[in-house]
Amino acid sequence: MPEALVERAREALDNAYVPYSEYTVGAALRTADGEVYVGCNIENANYSNSLHAEEVAVAEAVKNGHTEFDRLVVTSGARDGVTPCGMCRQTLAEFCDEDLPVVCDLGGDDVAEYALGELLPNTISLDTLEAAAAKRDADE
Ligand code: THU
Ligand code: ZN
Repeated sequence: MPEALVERAREALDNAYVPYSEYTVGAALRTADGEVYVGCNIENANYSNSLHAEEVAVAEAVKNGHTEFDRLVVTSGARDGVTPCGMCRQTLAEFCDEDLPVVCDLGGDDVAEYALGELLPNTISLDTLEAAAAKRDADE
């Protein structure tokens, strides 16, 4: 049996709105205190406004007051082990540590697991901006 978080991500596929790509994506994000927020992709006729499953899950969680996470599952209708795209990796990095497990569904009980920092090394972060501000102050 797949882990419960994989099941939640797969259930989220049912609500994907994908008239353009017909490629459904589901995400399940677990908070540090054990709640789960899910997301699906929601496409748009202008293409660029399409929302990705991971960003919908992050938005839903943050909207409900959660900013600490300990596990993410991503799945697609194709069960092809899809990983978060570059944009979603950056969105996740805003809230998640480099060691966040990113679990990618390969169907059945099979998954590929990565650490977020492996998918997006050297990310820009609040630390980057604070260090730059401190340097500006020191240079004045
Ligand atoms: N998609 C996601 O939902 N998450 C990703 O990070 C990769 C891509 C969606 C966007 C679009 O609706 C479809 O997959 C095909 O790119
Ligand atoms: Zn994405």
